Amino acid sequence: MNPVITPTIDVHLSADDLRRALERDVRTGLTSRPKQIPPVYFYDDRGSRLFDAITRLPEYYPTRAERGILETHAKDIVSASGADVLVELGAGTCDKSRLLLDAMQANGSLRRFIPLDVSNTTLWKAATTLSAEYPGLEVCAVVGDFHRHLNQLPTDGRRLFAFLGGTIGNLDPGQRRRFLTDLGAVMGPDDCLLLGTDLVKDRARLVRAYDDDAGVTAEFNRNVLLVLNRELGADFDPTRFEHVARWNEADQRIEMWLRSVEYQKIHVSDLDLELVFRSGEEMLTEISTKFTADAIRTELGDLGFDVESMWPSEGDDFLLTLARRSGTPSAISLAGGPASVCLRS
Ligand code: SAH
Ligand code: AVI
Repeated sequence: MNPVITPTIDVHLSADDLRRALERDVRTGLTSRPKQIPPVYFYDDRGSRLFDAITRLPEYYPTRAERGILETHAKDIVSASGADVLVELGAGTCDKSRLLLDAMQANGSLRRFIPLDVSNTTLWKAATTLSAEYPGLEVCAVVGDFHRHLNQLPTDGRRLFAFLGGTIGNLDPGQRRRFLTDLGAVMGPDDCLLLGTDLVKDRARLVRAYDDDAGVTAEFNRNVLLVLNRELGADFDPTRFEHVARWNEADQRIEMWLRSVEYQKIHVSDLDLELVFRSGEEMLTEISTKFTADAIRTELGDLGFDVESMWPSEGDDFLLTLARRSGTPSAISLAGGPASVCLRS
């Protein structure tokens, strides 16, 4: 029997880095119209636990749908990829990773697992649990930002980059383009991308998935206010903000907002910033874009990926796509804007 290998952890995001990014995002986002804050700040320890609870809600189908695809097709995915290293971006609790790890173990290819996440505690817990569950597996956890640290990931082996859960839908089109371009730039010809995307469906069902009866998603949404209170000395009272989940037809996405129930002034003491919320004013906290298979194929193709296979869930709720880098991204000229291939460190 293989010995348990102690996991390693590479920290590319120090508390100082996180703090500087938060200060910048709050100064910019909360003084713009509409006010907004990036969703990455949901995921402190409490936020990560709330997200985990969301994945078990009856209304929140994406996790179950994606798990269902992996239960049925992990073996095909893994053998099509030819990978011996699993890299998971935004890995969280690494729950679904086990299905891919099991399939890699079964075909004898499993060598190393590299989960990357901003959430240090959740990641470390998952890394230690998985090391114990998979004797002989090297677990190299990376605390980092998938917008900035893709070029810091270990490069050896044939890597399968899994970006699951539909997290790519939390990026706006410009962020998605930069992310996929940056990812393509670090992928070798033998590496693969496994991308999980939530699919467009009945609007009422979509809204319910983000506004559950038990109010867990509302708590998750308001949690960002507690993060701002703790990290920046802000004085938000979460009970004075309502959770709003709304379908945006033009952009094909669910949006989560926090609506101020009255006129209120908020003081962010560490930034010496005074914010005014009008009664009914909304702050954007998350977008969750929904896709079609055609849109995914086109977007990936434009950014230099060849789609090899697609696996929809039962009932076409969710889609897993396996793609490889094709060479020339056509979107750099098509998109008009600068598609960054230069990774920020
Ligand atoms: N992949 C898991 C978790 C999804 S929740 C699943 O499918 O269930 C989204 C995860 O992405 C959280 O763990 C969060 O901490 C992480 N995350 C969000 N923004 C990130 C960023 N910019 N860089 C790295 N991780 C990020
Ligand atoms: C992580 N991400 C894909 C989730 C989503 O569905 O957009 C986050 C989430 N927000 C509310 N519920 C779940």
